[in-house]
Amino acid sequence: MFATKPSTYFATAFTLLLIMVWSPSHAETPYTVTNGNELDIQSYQGYKVFRNWCARCHGTYGQGMRAPNLAESIATISKAEYLKVMASGKVSAKAKEMGRMPGWKGNAQVMDNLDNIYSYLKARADGKIDAVAPQSAK
Ligand code: HEC
Repeated sequence: MFATKPSTYFATAFTLLLIMVWSPSHAETPYTVTNGNELDIQSYQGYKVFRNWCARCHGTYGQGMRAPNLAESIATISKAEYLKVMASGKVSAKAKEMGRMPGWKGNAQVMDNLDNIYSYLKARADGKIDAVAPQSAK
């Protein structure tokens, strides 16, 4: 698949560079939602990891259960705060009713998908996808 001609290498390297330079401009809306419930691959991956590890406390779509509604929370906390809570957990005064938010430092699947999970939750927080089952856009 990869030809060995130097010009091909340069073209590939240049394309990768373009993608790297171009991507950060999309940091504000890290997701794409089409047809109401079709997510880009990263956000969909985030949803799947969320369903595995977070749904039992936060609800399948982050709508809240015994733990807070993250569609609301994510709109009020910074990305930096999100990353901190994810790594180290959180115990506030409400812990008596809600229990505690565990830290995920030791869970590679969660830690490797922090951005993907954030993208999904951000789409929820921005009201771009409701508490409905997401699909992967093809
Ligand atoms: C065992 C239950 C439980 C699980 C599992 C869990 N959480 Fe939480 N989470 C909580 C509780 C309880 C809080 C509220 C903590 C507090 O305010 O004291 C919380 C808070 C948070 C917050 C901060 C929200 C805010 O309003 O401050 C984020 C973000 C969050 N969780 C994301 C996640 C993600 C993503 C996962 C999956 C990787 C996850 N949680 C898994 C119980 C859980």
